Amino acid sequence: MSSMRLHKILSHAGISSRRKAEELIREGRVTVNGKVVTEAATNADISCDHIKINGKLITRLEPKVYILLNKPRGYITSLKDKEGRPTVIDLLKKVKLRVYPVGRLDYDTAGILLFTNDGDMAHALAHPRYMVPKTYLAKVRGIPNEVKIKRLNKGLLRIDGQQIPPAKTQIDRVSGENSWLRITIYEGQNRQIKRMCEAAGHPVSKLKRVRYASLTLSGLAPGAYRYLNSKEIEMLRTYMKRKK
Ligand code: URA
Repeated sequence: MSSMRLHKILSHAGISSRRKAEELIREGRVTVNGKVVTEAATNADISCDHIKINGKLITRLEPKVYILLNKPRGYITSLKDKEGRPTVIDLLKKVKLRVYPVGRLDYDTAGILLFTNDGDMAHALAHPRYMVPKTYLAKVRGIPNEVKIKRLNKGLLRIDGQQIPPAKTQIDRVSGENSWLRITIYEGQNRQIKRMCEAAGHPVSKLKRVRYASLTLSGLAPGAYRYLNSKEIEMLRTYMKRKK
């Protein structure tokens, strides 16, 4: 085993997310060979250094897992909720390793949500520079005309002075006074789909993420999850090698 940054070792050992690990290190709760280390970028090697967190020795790194959940509406993407609402973690009770959501879906949004204990992968997938395509089906009020679709696609809309990134939008179907839009985005700003549709004058009443890179919900009932296979993990890794 070669040396690795201390905050990475803690997250790879399943102690915490990488960000939380940085906090623990800053707080002086981590020692390397008996000395308190407060700098997250310090290198250490789990095979020969004695790394302790709150006095407890870290002995091994956990295997990496990647999980695809079909998130139902009515679950919050958070590890805990102050208001006591159900969280996505409640749906993963059988998963014994500590995993974290990759990005987030709103409480009332359904569909694909990935989880992993691989901090590097989670970080890369959530970063706009790697351009991971995410496709949503959005039920909106009204039927957007060509001009509106063009504006959505060219990123010409602004909200509070902030430009909304380009998307790929098409009308999937029309249902009475509403329509279903199939929208692919590459960046995941907060409430991005809802905000862009609102800015186009077509507020969203239902939202579901139906595709993440090449992953779909095929065969997964709402609330169910599955582990990704090695081919799928490799496919996600290819995004980490690409740059905008
Ligand atoms: N865009 C939204 O508006 N909400 C989500 O949950 C995801 C994308």
